[in-house]
Amino acid sequence: MTFSRAIKIAPSILSADFANFGAECEAIEAQGCDWVHVDVMDGHFVPNLTFGPATCAAIRKHIKGVMDVHLMIAPVDPYIDAFAQAGADVLTAHLEAGPHIHRTLQAIRAHGIKAGLALNPATGLDSLSYLLDMVDLVCVMTVNPGFGGQKFIHSQVGKVRALRAMIGDRPIHIEIDGGVTPETAPLVAAAGADVLVAGSGVFKGGSVANPAPYGENIRAIRAAAEAARQA
Ligand code: DX5
Ligand code: ZN
Repeated sequence: MTFSRAIKIAPSILSADFANFGAECEAIEAQGCDWVHVDVMDGHFVPNLTFGPATCAAIRKHIKGVMDVHLMIAPVDPYIDAFAQAGADVLTAHLEAGPHIHRTLQAIRAHGIKAGLALNPATGLDSLSYLLDMVDLVCVMTVNPGFGGQKFIHSQVGKVRALRAMIGDRPIHIEIDGGVTPETAPLVAAAGADVLVAGSGVFKGGSVANPAPYGENIRAIRAAAEAARQA
């Protein structure tokens, strides 16, 4: 993975057909996405359950590009080896998931993969000053984690702007997760985000049998974000 601040669209397969993950991943890549975002939920850290490392390993075989795994689980550390072995390129843990996030990020990087840090909407940037040399990606949650299809929380745009200033020249991605549409993408792209996760915003209107809407949705979000960057 070479670092770039170009806009990347990362569809969340939380909005895909769960009985058809392999074909869904192939469809969104064929329709022009950059990364594939995989939401792991434990029914404890967040009030919803999805799947674990075995499913990630099965999905991996159907993804040519970057597999971006978002862990909404607590504890995290006992499962890092399994998700790294499942083929994650980026493994993101929540700052709120436990008292030893520094150790968690070290453990992720020890596998030679990228370490991500996710922040819930209520979490500030204060702790980050001691973690900037430990992270490859910061994920600003623009919804409360747990479900797809929620409304974008506008107060997070200022957080993205402050984060972008804090990061400076460091090769750290800023990812936005939740409520991304062609209407909200420009706000976060202008503020400095480069990875835009979109679940319902990409998968709406399409299917494996009819994947063209995935491409239309991806292009609409990308065009809106890139226009805001240039403005
Ligand atoms: C929320 C997940 C997101 C979610 C985004 O807990 O982390 O990745 O799938 O879904 P939309 O784009 O529908 O808000
Ligand atoms: Zn996510």
